[in-house]
Amino acid sequence: MIQVFSIRPFFRGVRLALITSSLILSSTLVMAQAVNPFDSDSRAARAGGALFRSQCATCHGADAMGIQDIDAPDLTSLWALGDRADDSVFQTIRDGIPGSIMPPHLFLDTEIWMLVTYLKSLGNPSSIVSTTGDAARGAELFASNCSGCHRVKGKGGSLGPDLSVITALRSREALVSSIRDPSSVLVRRYRPVTLVTRDNQRIQGTLKSEDAFSIQLMDTSQRLRGFLKADLQEFIHEERSLMPPFESSNLSDSNLEDVLSFLQGQ
Ligand code: HEC
Ligand code: HEC
Repeated sequence: MIQVFSIRPFFRGVRLALITSSLILSSTLVMAQAVNPFDSDSRAARAGGALFRSQCATCHGADAMGIQDIDAPDLTSLWALGDRADDSVFQTIRDGIPGSIMPPHLFLDTEIWMLVTYLKSLGNPSSIVSTTGDAARGAELFASNCSGCHRVKGKGGSLGPDLSVITALRSREALVSSIRDPSSVLVRRYRPVTLVTRDNQRIQGTLKSEDAFSIQLMDTSQRLRGFLKADLQEFIHEERSLMPPFESSNLSDSNLEDVLSFLQGQ
């Protein structure tokens, strides 16, 4: 500061001009980078796919569908919600995610854009998951069987994930299997856990986060709670989802179509 004030106006002017021109320069660089040079070029997508299989598949799976055991997410529907910018995916790949095992990558920018182009080409599953269901009947079924745990358009419980846009994110097969057999694939951040505290309280819920010392979960009465690991006798990762299975005896095939049809209309 003191230096700047002591500079005579002429030099201050030069200095300001330099600062402004370098600002303009760096903002054009940032802007140039924000635009994917390959867009939907299929050759770039193939090259990105090869890079993905050699550098990313150990964690995210050869099909980019994620690997549950190490909590590496499914990357096939990053654009499904429509609000994802290509350059935010670029930055995540380049910088990694601090505090997780997602590493930074020292690739050339063109290589990172190829990876982005590949991931984007994986596309979104069609959001048409049912053609025969009755959405109005599905809304009733949903209200009586599902909304205690699931939110749709801001209404409902939150022990399970928000299902407002779920048909844009998951295929029909994945949805049917989540409903008929919830424990077959457990959704990230909704994994079932049981804690036993030192004073013998048993608490069930879905695991929200965990570090070396503490655990955050949402208990089955849908309260967010935190615990210190030192205060626990037991911390169990369960294999059974907190969602009950809806088999054809309690949700017929045609009722399942109704529920899917309701969900795709959200
Ligand atoms: C050592 C394992 C590992 C490797 C290797 C790895 N990732 Fe990841 N990646 C993760 C994990 C774990 C997360 C989730 C981190 C979190 O959110 O806590 C993640 C998150 C991401 C995300 C953010 C997803 C989102 O929903 O925003 C992207 C994009 C991604 N990885 C792309 C890649 C690409 C591309 C490569 C290869 C160049 C790669 N990753 C290599 C483990 C890995
Ligand atoms: C007792 C609470 C509860 C009820 C009732 C419930 N669910 Fe769930 N649901 C969950 C939880 C917790 C998860 C996440 C864990 C898992 O994957 O099973 C989940 C996961 C799901 C998923 C997977 C979402 C994803 O991101 O892939 C779908 C789809 C789903 N539920 C649909 C339904 C439908 C439809 C009903 C009613 C017929 C229903 N659920 C009833 C708790 C519930």
